[in-house]
Amino acid sequence: MRHFLASIATYIIIAFLFGAAVLFGAVRSAQVVVSDETTVLTQYAPGPERFEWEELGAGSYLRNCENCHGAQGKGWDQYPGLDHIGLLFLAPKGRDYVIDLHLYGLTSDRWGAPMPPMGHMHDIQLAAVLNHVLTRFGNETVVGKDVALYEPLDIAARRDQGLTPRQMEERRPDVPLPAPR
Ligand code: HEC
Repeated sequence: MRHFLASIATYIIIAFLFGAAVLFGAVRSAQVVVSDETTVLTQYAPGPERFEWEELGAGSYLRNCENCHGAQGKGWDQYPGLDHIGLLFLAPKGRDYVIDLHLYGLTSDRWGAPMPPMGHMHDIQLAAVLNHVLTRFGNETVVGKDVALYEPLDIAARRDQGLTPRQMEERRPDVPLPAPR
């Protein structure tokens, strides 16, 4: 009899755990739908007015670049600082190079690591994060205030070229590297 009751208790516990797992799964998938990245990003999509990239740019830098390039864009170890992106941007064909660098990555052998392709980021995020970097870390004095920064459509227009990180090195404008730290 004791044995029989113990089995019942085991079955009840298993049924309970199964029910909890199903419920947890349902709640999680509901959350995923609610916080779908594209849904969140649409609030930043440029309207007829100005592209409001500031908040999205700061958040995208934190999540996608800071690990390697540092909070202040100073770089460390095998990762370069980002105080030369303004010069890259202003160089001949540099405006396109800076976008392509992020879509297709860069392998130059100058640093101990490659810059990974970031094409998984949305057009809105990439435009915002590039504007973020171009307006700080010392680049703001190089780029100045009157230059048109990036719009999401600029990024969309450079996708699907199938470039490789090595080809990006061949296309790199001849701009001095940031000083080693
Ligand atoms: C996993 C580490 C990593 C991440 C994440 C990363 N980078 Fe890089 N980045 C690198 C490395 C390494 C290089 C140097 C590559 C080379 O020269 O071969 C580089 C190079 C660069 C350069 C200089 C290119 C040149 O031609 O001198 C810029 C600008 C840049 N990254 C911006 C960014 C931005 C903006 C983000 C976030 C959207 C980002 N990186 C994310 C590692 C990273």
